[in-house]
Amino acid sequence: EAFDVLVVGSCMTDLVSQAPRLPKAGETIHGHKFFIGFGGKGANQCVQAARLGAKTAMVCKVGKDFFGDSYIQNFKDNGVHTDFVGQTSEAATGAASIIVNDAGENAIVIVAGANMLLNNEDLQKTLPSLIHAKVLVCQLEISPKTSLQALQMARESKVKTVFNPAPAIPDLDPEFYRVSDVFCCNESEAELLTGFSVASVEEAHRAAQELLRRGCGSVIITLGPQGCVVLEAQGSASKHIPTTAVTAVDTTGAGDSFIGALAFYMAYHPTIPLEEMARRANKVSGVSVQAVGTQTSFPFKKDLPPELF
Ligand code: RIB
Ligand code: NA
Repeated sequence: EAFDVLVVGSCMTDLVSQAPRLPKAGETIHGHKFFIGFGGKGANQCVQAARLGAKTAMVCKVGKDFFGDSYIQNFKDNGVHTDFVGQTSEAATGAASIIVNDAGENAIVIVAGANMLLNNEDLQKTLPSLIHAKVLVCQLEISPKTSLQALQMARESKVKTVFNPAPAIPDLDPEFYRVSDVFCCNESEAELLTGFSVASVEEAHRAAQELLRRGCGSVIITLGPQGCVVLEAQGSASKHIPTTAVTAVDTTGAGDSFIGALAFYMAYHPTIPLEEMARRANKVSGVSVQAVGTQTSFPFKKDLPPELF
């Protein structure tokens, strides 16, 4: 079977507490709401692409437990193909403890669990599908070795690659840059990877040049309410793509919504310029920040203006 967007990445059960602010070390505070949702950067990106109409498959590993079973059902409910979703009894389904403050900002601890057991053997099983995909997307909530391997396999088959180095690690294997057609990260990840401060659009332009210099095809740095900076190719200037101001309720997963949308555009509108894809992806993720939760807030094609398609 053919899939246009393949995501090799993570699934997490999001355990979300809403509180007025994020607690300090050693402090207990009252929150006002708790809910459980489907998250994990990989799965979030895949679900967003699927909701825009992409034919997607998820390559991941969950536990042989209640959360794993319900996650598989969640993929089915979202039209994501699940033949490459493995279940293991060696570890629990990944979990993310998330606190969201009144400004819609968050702090997250992830316990990757079963995600870390996704391995080369699992990737090999996807090869017949992978080589026919249009876009492959990876992040860093699984073993970096597995992510890199997936990106390399895609590269060898001329499948476009999107790499989201999240959460960022300071000692990222330099090979990741060379296998990324689009290297897409947020401001704090860009800071960690480059060692530059990325506190303004100006600084994001500089960081994008540095990331591109390391060998990726193009670079996107997302900047929350400031939109993003897109650097299309070597020797060109990066462009700031602003976004329309919205009232943020919960920004958790906004970056994933952006990347899922980007993968959708790369697969189905490959000829539109990257900057225009980013402008549209800004719009999609802008919808997601206006509602609570991660996947619960991701828009479907029917919720969005037709000019985005
Ligand atoms: O990017 C947001 C995601 O990060 C959450 O869904 C949580 O699971 C963590 O992985
Ligand atoms: Na949201």
